[in-house]
Amino acid sequence: MVRVIISSANRLLIVLLFSLLLFVPQINGSMSSNRKLGKAPITAKGLSYDFYWISCPRVERIIRKHLEDVFEKDPGQAPGILRLFFHDCFSQGCDASIFLSGASGEQDTDENFGLRPEAIETIENLRALVRKQCPRVVSCSDILVIAAREAVRQFGGPDFDVPLGRKDSKFFNKSSAANLPKPFFKTGELVKSFSDRNLDATDLVALSGAHTYGLAHCGSLFNRTTDTQPPIDPEFRNGLIGKCPDEDSPVPIDLDIRTPNKFDNMYYIDLLNQQGVFTSDQDLASDPRTREIVNQFSSNQKLFFDKFANAFVKASQLQVLTGNDVNAEIRKTCFAPNNDGFSSSSSSVLHEVVDSAETNNI
Ligand code: HEM
Ligand SMILES: *[C@@H]1O[C@H](CO)[C@@H](O)[C@H](O)[C@H]1NC(C)=O
Ligand SMILES: *[C@@H]1O[C@H](CO)[C@@H](O)[C@H](O)[C@H]1NC(C)=O
Repeated sequence: MVRVIISSANRLLIVLLFSLLLFVPQINGSMSSNRKLGKAPITAKGLSYDFYWISCPRVERIIRKHLEDVFEKDPGQAPGILRLFFHDCFSQGCDASIFLSGASGEQDTDENFGLRPEAIETIENLRALVRKQCPRVVSCSDILVIAAREAVRQFGGPDFDVPLGRKDSKFFNKSSAANLPKPFFKTGELVKSFSDRNLDATDLVALSGAHTYGLAHCGSLFNRTTDTQPPIDPEFRNGLIGKCPDEDSPVPIDLDIRTPNKFDNMYYIDLLNQQGVFTSDQDLASDPRTREIVNQFSSNQKLFFDKFANAFVKASQLQVLTGNDVNAEIRKTCFAPNNDGFSSSSSSVLHEVVDSAETNNI
């Protein structure tokens, strides 16, 4: 009788211990913080918030720690990495295609002018670091997404979870980069560019808030100094002309004149003062589709952070490759497809892959 009681007590203990085991890694594994926002919904099949829970549980911590060192030495890499994320996801989806073939791939387009080589190098360094602790399970595209979230979080922006499980593409397509929005676009063209990707006006205004830090080169903003619409603060304009006497002047301009190295909502205050650097920034404060959102974000940073995190998670799921997609792999290096033959046994699939490899000149 006594033995039975003990053994059922033991059983209870075992059940309790197991429940604890299930919970503890969750608490340690997620990068929890009391500023953390709720998880945004996942819409892409194959992604999840705990994708590497078993295969590489430390991946987020490895990336976070390394970036703390990198950003301390060179804070400019944070905006550099955030822009890489945007340009990767808006060209053929979040598939790390932006890293393929280096300077003769997607990077070799007008739209990708000004990408920071050292930020690109940092993603490959992160891949190598992660690979030391885990087998080849973490994709370059996931590393870029986590790094971009860190670039926001470590500079005062929102902390939020990102869904993981992307794979890397075997191909890139230079002309997909031509679909990136241009700095001389007005709001109508921006709304179109974003809605083509199922992102709405709130997502557009929130994600544009990434211009709260980082730099622009004179060629990107030159017609802001010549056009009178959207409006521009005369003193701000004189400053731009002073730093950019012509389109090729090499000295870069801060995207946010108030707090150029901080992720905050000052960008929207800039816009209300007609001090947006690009036409694409400033016009958001004039257009009836977006101006009320600009007003709200300028006076409510918490609202901006919530909407930014939500829009980031949406954008991070654009055209992702997951599971056993024939065009997907976990790259050995972020800068090249694996080139290790095709694992698929279907010869028709093989043909498709070879055909599109030829079309894409890889
Ligand atoms: C809405 C349309 C957008 C346009 C037209 C645009 C355009 C540009 C241009 C032209 C530059 C400067 C390039 C240079 O001269 O070196 C730039 C920089 C930057 N963009 Fe955007 N962008 C847009 C949206 C975004 C989004 C959605 C993000 C990220 C979520 C983003 C993040 C950045 C960052 C962080 C920089 C500074 C990069 C650095 O300092 O290295 N941009 N953008
Ligand atoms: C490359 O991207 C462009 C623009 O999105 C698209 O029209 C074209 O079909 C793509 N090419 C391939 C081979 O996927
Ligand atoms: C601004 O400059 C770009 C590139 O130089 C040009 O294509 C565009 O037409 C210009 N836009 C305006 C409104 O002047």
